[in-house]
Amino acid sequence: MEVIKYAFQRHGDDRGMLVALEEGKEIPFPVKRVYYMYDTVPGVRRGHHAHKCLEQILICIHGSCKIHLDNGEETAEVELSNPYEGLYIPNDMWREMYDFSSDAVLMVLASVIYDESDYIRSYDEFIQYVKGNTHE
Ligand code: TYD
Repeated sequence: MEVIKYAFQRHGDDRGMLVALEEGKEIPFPVKRVYYMYDTVPGVRRGHHAHKCLEQILICIHGSCKIHLDNGEETAEVELSNPYEGLYIPNDMWREMYDFSSDAVLMVLASVIYDESDYIRSYDEFIQYVKGNTHE
Protein backbone atom coordinates (compact mmCIF):
# COMPACT_ATOMS: atom_id res chain seq x y z
CA MET A 1 0.00 0.00 0.00
CA GLU A 2 1.23 3.48 -0.80
CA VAL A 3 1.50 5.44 2.44
CA ILE A 4 1.60 9.21 1.97
CA LYS A 5 3.59 10.80 4.74
CA TYR A 6 4.55 14.43 4.44
CA ALA A 7 7.63 16.05 5.97
CA PHE A 8 6.50 19.66 6.35
CA GLN A 9 8.96 22.49 6.01
CA ARG A 10 10.51 23.45 9.34
CA HIS A 11 11.26 27.09 9.89
CA GLY A 12 13.98 26.81 12.48
CA ASP A 13 16.21 29.48 13.92
CA ASP A 14 18.00 30.10 17.18
CA ARG A 15 14.63 30.63 18.92
CA GLY A 16 13.29 27.18 18.01
CA MET A 17 11.05 25.60 15.41
CA LEU A 18 7.88 26.54 13.60
CA VAL A 19 5.74 24.65 11.07
CA ALA A 20 3.12 26.48 8.98
CA LEU A 21 0.34 24.66 7.14
CA GLU A 22 -1.81 26.31 4.50
CA GLU A 23 -4.79 24.98 2.63
CA GLY A 24 -3.82 24.46 -1.01
CA LYS A 25 -0.10 24.35 -0.20
CA GLU A 26 0.96 21.81 2.41
CA ILE A 27 -2.64 20.63 2.86
CA PRO A 28 -4.18 19.33 -0.39
CA PHE A 29 -7.83 19.80 0.67
CA PRO A 30 -10.00 22.49 2.27
CA VAL A 31 -9.55 22.29 6.03
CA LYS A 32 -13.08 22.30 7.45
CA ARG A 33 -12.31 20.83 10.87
CA VAL A 34 -9.45 20.34 13.31
CA TYR A 35 -9.58 18.02 16.29
CA TYR A 36 -7.00 16.47 18.56
CA MET A 37 -6.61 13.66 21.04
CA TYR A 38 -4.56 13.89 24.21
CA ASP A 39 -4.39 12.19 27.61
CA THR A 40 -5.03 8.94 25.76
CA VAL A 41 -5.25 6.10 28.25
CA PRO A 42 -2.27 3.69 28.00
CA GLY A 43 -2.96 0.62 25.87
CA VAL A 44 -6.03 2.12 24.22
CA ARG A 45 -6.72 1.65 20.49
CA ARG A 46 -8.88 4.34 18.95
CA GLY A 47 -10.47 4.83 15.57
CA HIS A 48 -11.78 1.48 14.29
CA HIS A 49 -13.59 3.13 11.41
CA ALA A 50 -13.35 4.33 7.82
CA HIS A 51 -14.93 7.26 6.01
CA LYS A 52 -16.76 7.26 2.70
CA CYS A 53 -16.00 10.86 1.85
CA LEU A 54 -13.35 12.45 4.05
CA GLU A 55 -9.68 13.22 3.67
CA GLN A 56 -7.50 13.74 6.71
CA ILE A 57 -3.96 14.56 7.70
CA LEU A 58 -2.81 13.27 11.08
CA ILE A 59 -0.01 15.09 12.87
CA CYS A 60 1.35 13.93 16.20
CA ILE A 61 2.33 17.39 17.39
CA HIS A 62 3.75 16.06 20.64
CA GLY A 63 4.88 12.58 21.67
CA SER A 64 4.28 9.60 19.43
CA CYS A 65 1.68 7.12 18.29
CA LYS A 66 1.14 4.50 15.61
CA ILE A 67 -1.53 4.22 12.95
CA HIS A 68 -2.81 0.98 11.45
CA LEU A 69 -4.12 1.48 7.92
CA ASP A 70 -6.18 -1.03 5.94
CA ASN A 71 -7.63 -0.43 2.46
CA GLY A 72 -9.41 -3.79 2.37
CA GLU A 73 -6.57 -5.47 0.50
CA GLU A 74 -3.36 -4.35 2.19
CA THR A 75 -2.38 -3.00 5.58
CA ALA A 76 0.37 -0.71 6.82
CA GLU A 77 1.65 0.42 10.20
CA VAL A 78 2.88 4.00 10.40
CA GLU A 79 4.63 5.67 13.31
CA LEU A 80 4.19 9.38 13.89
CA SER A 81 6.83 10.74 16.23
CA ASN A 82 7.79 14.14 14.83
CA PRO A 83 5.68 17.31 14.94
CA TYR A 84 6.65 18.15 11.34
CA GLU A 85 5.30 14.89 9.88
CA GLY A 86 1.79 14.43 8.51
CA LEU A 87 0.07 11.20 7.50
CA TYR A 88 -2.48 11.59 4.71
CA ILE A 89 -5.50 9.29 4.97
CA PRO A 90 -7.88 9.22 1.99
CA ASN A 91 -11.48 7.97 1.75
CA ASP A 92 -12.18 4.27 2.16
CA MET A 93 -9.35 3.54 4.57
CA TRP A 94 -9.88 1.67 7.83
CA ARG A 95 -7.71 3.20 10.57
CA GLU A 96 -6.80 2.41 14.15
CA MET A 97 -4.53 4.53 16.35
CA TYR A 98 -2.48 2.84 19.05
CA ASP A 99 0.72 2.89 21.11
CA PHE A 100 0.16 6.47 22.21
CA SER A 101 2.96 7.81 24.39
CA SER A 102 1.64 9.33 27.60
CA ASP A 103 2.44 12.83 26.27
CA ALA A 104 0.99 12.25 22.78
CA VAL A 105 -1.15 14.94 21.18
CA LEU A 106 -2.56 13.68 17.88
CA MET A 107 -4.02 16.48 15.77
CA VAL A 108 -6.22 15.79 12.77
CA LEU A 109 -7.00 18.15 9.88
CA ALA A 110 -10.18 17.07 8.12
CA SER A 111 -11.74 18.04 4.79
CA VAL A 112 -15.37 18.04 5.97
CA ILE A 113 -17.23 18.87 9.16
CA TYR A 114 -18.24 16.08 11.52
CA ASP A 115 -20.90 13.82 10.01
CA GLU A 116 -21.67 10.55 11.75
CA SER A 117 -23.41 9.23 8.60
CA ASP A 118 -20.06 9.28 6.76
CA TYR A 119 -18.54 6.75 9.19
CA ILE A 120 -18.26 3.02 8.56
CA ARG A 121 -17.78 1.59 12.05
CA SER A 122 -18.08 -2.12 11.28
CA TYR A 123 -15.04 -3.80 9.72
CA ASP A 124 -17.25 -6.33 7.88
CA GLU A 125 -19.30 -3.50 6.44
CA PHE A 126 -16.08 -1.72 5.39
CA ILE A 127 -14.90 -4.79 3.48
CA GLN A 128 -18.27 -5.09 1.73
CA TYR A 129 -18.18 -1.38 0.93
CA VAL A 130 -14.70 -1.35 -0.65
CA LYS A 131 -15.36 -4.56 -2.57
CA GLY A 132 -18.57 -3.00 -3.90
CA ASN A 133 -16.67 0.15 -4.94
CA THR A 134 -14.03 -1.89 -6.76
CA HIS A 135 -16.62 -3.68 -8.85
CA GLU A 136 -18.70 -0.64 -9.77
P1 TYD B 1 -14.74 8.88 18.17
O1 TYD B 1 -15.23 8.85 16.77
O2 TYD B 1 -15.16 7.79 19.09
O3 TYD B 1 -13.15 9.00 18.18
P2 TYD B 1 -12.07 7.96 17.62
O4 TYD B 1 -12.23 7.91 16.16
O5 TYD B 1 -10.77 8.56 17.99
O6 TYD B 1 -12.27 6.64 18.30
O7 TYD B 1 -15.13 10.29 18.79
C1 TYD B 1 -15.19 10.52 20.19
C2 TYD B 1 -16.31 11.50 20.49
O8 TYD B 1 -16.03 12.79 19.94
C3 TYD B 1 -17.66 11.07 19.94
O9 TYD B 1 -18.63 11.37 20.92
C4 TYD B 1 -17.87 11.97 18.75
C5 TYD B 1 -17.10 13.22 19.10
N1 TYD B 1 -16.54 13.92 17.94
C6 TYD B 1 -17.03 15.15 17.58
O10 TYD B 1 -17.97 15.68 18.21
N2 TYD B 1 -16.49 15.80 16.52
C7 TYD B 1 -15.46 15.27 15.81
O11 TYD B 1 -14.97 15.90 14.85
C8 TYD B 1 -14.94 13.98 16.19
C9 TYD B 1 -13.81 13.33 15.43
C10 TYD B 1 -15.51 13.34 17.26
